[in-house]
Amino acid sequence: MTPSIVELRDVHVVHKARSGGLFGRDHVHALTAADLAIAPGETVGIVGESGCGKSTLAKVLVGVQRPTAGSVTFRGDDLWATASVRRRTALGAGVGMIFQDPSTALNRRLTVRQIVRDPLDVHRRGTSAERDGRVRELLGLVGLPKALADVLPGQLSGGQRQRVAIARALALEPDLVVADEPTSALDVSVRAQILNLLLDLKERLGLALVFVSHDIQTVRRMSDRVVTMYLGRIVEETPAADVLDRSRHPYTRALFSATPGLLDPIDPIPLIGPVPSATRPPSGCPFRTRCWRADDVCAGTMPDFEGAGGHVFRCHHPVREDQSTHDLVREVAVQEAAPATLRA
Ligand SMILES: Nc1ncnc2c1ncn2[C@@H]1O[C@H](COP(=O)(O)OP(=O)(O)OP(=O)(O)O)[C@@H](O)[C@H]1O
Ligand code: SF4
Ligand SMILES: [Mg+2]
Repeated sequence: MTPSIVELRDVHVVHKARSGGLFGRDHVHALTAADLAIAPGETVGIVGESGCGKSTLAKVLVGVQRPTAGSVTFRGDDLWATASVRRRTALGAGVGMIFQDPSTALNRRLTVRQIVRDPLDVHRRGTSAERDGRVRELLGLVGLPKALADVLPGQLSGGQRQRVAIARALALEPDLVVADEPTSALDVSVRAQILNLLLDLKERLGLALVFVSHDIQTVRRMSDRVVTMYLGRIVEETPAADVLDRSRHPYTRALFSATPGLLDPIDPIPLIGPVPSATRPPSGCPFRTRCWRADDVCAGTMPDFEGAGGHVFRCHHPVREDQSTHDLVREVAVQEAAPATLRA
């Protein structure tokens, strides 16, 4: 098996709640017991509703968020057990990150050339002339005309700014690029261009790509593997080709049913229970307050991962592999119609 670029084992991230809570002691469980390995060259999409921990996971993968517990192994080295200088050098060169909003992610006082050159200067790559050459090469790679090298980010369009951010992320030839909502701050008309650019670069440069987006259908189309998160937990990893109608976790099915294809429209699977808080996650399975299949077993223990062959899920009562989403919509309707006493 090819060694992973980065691997998380039992990673937890707990924040002090921003609001403080009644006694000022509330904690947010942003990421709980996450295991994830990213292999060279693969594209992994991360989906889940707002606040479920996608950005936290992305930041742990690129080493800007230190886990409260658990380990992050980067090319075989335990990242947070190594000296900070070595960690920064390894990560700075090995991973690139692209953020949601290019207008805040770029230093607005530097020119495009300076922004793209900065990582080369910090990591002392090559001679000054070689760095100039690399900047020209990078701008070409992301499709920015040479004439834009000396302008400030404020003079660029949103799409051009995101191209600058991509060029900067690629400057040190990383093996892994993590893109957290790379298009959601952009005009709809340029989103596809930026996504296509990322996919094209990934192919040409052999990058591994971790892609976070609210646009789950785009994630599905772009990815080899889809990771579903719910309330700080990874609850399923599915080969992208199977995620629409062969995923096994009820939440993954519900999520992907919400944006049906135009050719085969279906009613989405409704989720009606209370949305739990990341400061007080429910006992057992975190999805049980909204899951139509929940019972006492679900309230008692968090299910372990089961499955194989790149498809794993955590659920006590998984959806059958051959069960259609139409069928699940019917199943939920029957469950909702049953008197409360008969429900599990
Ligand atoms: N620095 C912080 N301090 C306190 N809480 C935080 C902090 N960063 C994130 N959180 C909380 O951790 C949880 C996970 O946040 P995260 O940003 O990872 O979610 P997300 O899935 O990326 O959400 P979105 O889709 O809205 O970007 C949320 O409840 C969020 O409010
Ligand atoms: S473990 Fe239970 S509550 Fe959680 S997703 Fe599976 S059936 Fe639903
Ligand atoms: Mg986020």
